[in-house]
Amino acid sequence: MLSQKSMDIVKSTAPVLEVHGVAITTAFYKNLFVAHPELLNIFNHANQAKGRQQTALANAVYAAAVHIDNLAAIIPAVKQIGQKHVSLGIKPEHYPIVGEHLLGAIKEVLGDAATDDIINAWAEAYGVIADAFIGIEEEMYVAAESKEGGWRFFKDFVIADKVKESDNITSFYLKPADGSAVPTFEPGQFITIRVSIPGEKYLMNRQYSLSKAADTESFRISVKKEDENDPEGKVSVHLHNNVNVGDIVELTAPAGEFILDPEKTTPVTFLSGGVGITPMMSMLETVAKQQPNRPVSFIYSARNESLHPFDHDIRSLMETMEDAKYVTLYSDSGDGFISKDVIKEHSRNDGDVYVCGPVGFMEAMINHLLDLGYANEQIHYEFFGPALQLELVQV
Ligand code: HEM
Repeated sequence: MLSQKSMDIVKSTAPVLEVHGVAITTAFYKNLFVAHPELLNIFNHANQAKGRQQTALANAVYAAAVHIDNLAAIIPAVKQIGQKHVSLGIKPEHYPIVGEHLLGAIKEVLGDAATDDIINAWAEAYGVIADAFIGIEEEMYVAAESKEGGWRFFKDFVIADKVKESDNITSFYLKPADGSAVPTFEPGQFITIRVSIPGEKYLMNRQYSLSKAADTESFRISVKKEDENDPEGKVSVHLHNNVNVGDIVELTAPAGEFILDPEKTTPVTFLSGGVGITPMMSMLETVAKQQPNRPVSFIYSARNESLHPFDHDIRSLMETMEDAKYVTLYSDSGDGFISKDVIKEHSRNDGDVYVCGPVGFMEAMINHLLDLGYANEQIHYEFFGPALQLELVQV
């Protein structure tokens, strides 16, 4: 438990630190990677280059500090971040390293203004926040490990098949290399894939949604080929160009909270754009298998037909369902984007909606849904990449 004195100091200085948040976390990352270059095997270098992770960590630490006297209020946010952490194999022993360098960066940026009292209070607070993360992440690791075929951290998988789904999306079917069982997962969850890319000094991790329903055969991810010059695209380009059937990659166990609630029987709408279709495939297939009577609308937006994956699979699934609608809009051919009217016409607003796609797409869809009278609890979404302000909103 944090002492009252430390709590008061943390709450009163959180706004000051927040003002310097980006400077502090920028200094933090710089010093962290000089002292612990091995952590570059975990962090996403592209996020670092764009400064995105800096913002995410700063937001989370200050938001947590503001709620330091009632950490229960931020448990949902801790869980969401925890899902990301466990899917990257973050361990308890990483927390003191991050704490030391975060406090060091606070001292570096604030200079004399960072008195011993302030530093000690933040050290205490960081310890409390870190313990909350470590506890929740341990529960998640135990849950993943206790499934049949489950594991913690990374495990070798072999590429069992590689299938082109559209001009820019290719699926990879993955089986445990040791022949163990493929664990179940929730529709909508993702895995982290870790690869060693020739010419890159450090291992690289990327998260991909599982793109089919859980089965005993394999996992499937479906990867969009990114621009060869985009640092964010290195893993994608490597998978497309160099990773083939029989090759080994490392995976973490499925994680994530953007999941379909299989208990519900109310109508469900899947709204996706581009490669955002991947978690929807896992959800749609699960509904088709387990609740073929559940009313479903599948609304998808692609640039054109050649960039439209899974069309045949979706149509086949639709045929097995009683009340399913499927609409695709091609923006290049004048269909435009998914408008409020399209959503209104093809979905029912007494159910849940799952949204996934590029950030601009998500923002537009969420605004349409709110305008159409959907309540926040009905709208579920997942941004690819660090959740930026979302943590703050949720906290
Ligand atoms: C991601 C907060 C400790 C490694 C994140 C995100 C937040 C966050 C908000 C973004 C989540 C998202 O993308 O949805 C925190 C807080 C910590 C903490 C508040 C301490 C209390 C750690 C530790 C490590 C770590 C100890 C390991 C050394 C990462 C990595 C990512 C991440 C690798 C993914 C983003 C990237 O690769 O750039 N963390 N974190 N974090 N965190 Fe933490």
